[in-house]
Amino acid sequence: MTIRKILKQKLTEFPMVWNAYQVVKTQIKRLWLLKYFLCDISNVHRNMYWPSSNQSNLQLTSELLFQFHKIEKGLVMPGPKRFFGQEPARAVINLLNTWHMKGLSVNDPVYLGALETLHSYMERLQSELLDKDDRVLSHIRSFLNNHTARTELLATPYLLASMNGDIASNVHQFDGLVSIRRSVRSFTSVAVPLELIKHAVGLAQQSPSACNRQPCRVYLVTEERKKNALLALQNGNKGFGHLIPTLAVITSDSGAFFDASERHEPYIDGGLFSMTLMYALSAQGLATCCLNWCVSPDKDVGLRNILPLTDSELVIMLMAIGNPEPNVLVPRSPRKLTENVLIEVF
Ligand SMILES: Cc1cc2nc3c(=O)[nH]c(=O)nc-3n(C[C@H](O)[C@H](O)[C@H](O)COP(=O)(O)O)c2cc1C
Repeated sequence: MTIRKILKQKLTEFPMVWNAYQVVKTQIKRLWLLKYFLCDISNVHRNMYWPSSNQSNLQLTSELLFQFHKIEKGLVMPGPKRFFGQEPARAVINLLNTWHMKGLSVNDPVYLGALETLHSYMERLQSELLDKDDRVLSHIRSFLNNHTARTELLATPYLLASMNGDIASNVHQFDGLVSIRRSVRSFTSVAVPLELIKHAVGLAQQSPSACNRQPCRVYLVTEERKKNALLALQNGNKGFGHLIPTLAVITSDSGAFFDASERHEPYIDGGLFSMTLMYALSAQGLATCCLNWCVSPDKDVGLRNILPLTDSELVIMLMAIGNPEPNVLVPRSPRKLTENVLIEVF
């Protein structure tokens, strides 16, 4: 018996001392967990800010999306048409100039979307005579005179009804899709075609994100050694990890957000993205299982030694993807009563 065990046994003979020992131990354990918060604070400090100069491409793209989204939103607001958007419009022009200076692609949908938004904004100001004092109109006009690319497909805003199709049958299909998706923990060894995953990721990109900043990425791992090394860092795949043919690592880039007030957004956007991805995979007959990334900082570093994540990328979850074993069994995992979830407030 070790000295520790002997001491512990002795302590149990004195209930008051034993209880005090337990309380102190629990409190020390709790204090030790502060390291998770310290890691979060450190990440916010390192990555969640937008410098006014020397912006990374991610920060530039994020700020551009953020600013032109304000204008896009203003263009669809119900009610009387009012003057709006002067500051965002100026910011968009500055950011587009930086885009050019950096030599970034002028075929990028973010760039083209910003130009289209400026066009629509200018047309609104002109047609509704909203900027009689010329607070911003001539500035936009002269900028757009030099940037003529028009892209019908990215024209904004657009009529939602033109995209809706047959809503009734879509809704019906969605009910079915939700009920067939379950976490699967047994896969065949058949490889998952990359095309199916690409298609699903494209659909996941349609998920909403805060100010349309789209911070998520998906790393696909099929190579046996890398996959096993990643799974060894994760605690929820025991008994089935060895059967997972494709492992996805879903990340969300905290660098897309401007300060600590947005510290939860990478996770919220990441969760929404992951859910759409799962449905998109299920809709193609593939099976998935989320794998939590509730790991200690050293395991997170371990993952970063295997995959080329940037410092600002946060891991949202790992996801097992594969073809389900025929006649696979899944837990029932009953859901709570809806009346305990939906609260009507009168
Ligand atoms: C963020 C997240 C992390 C999860 N982590 C694990 C995990 O590590 N291992 C596992 O077997 N299942 C994991 N799951 C799956 C849940 O256990 C499962 O979604 C839940 O029990 C409901 O069952 P269903 O997905 O079949 O509807 C996770 C789910 C989520 C959303």
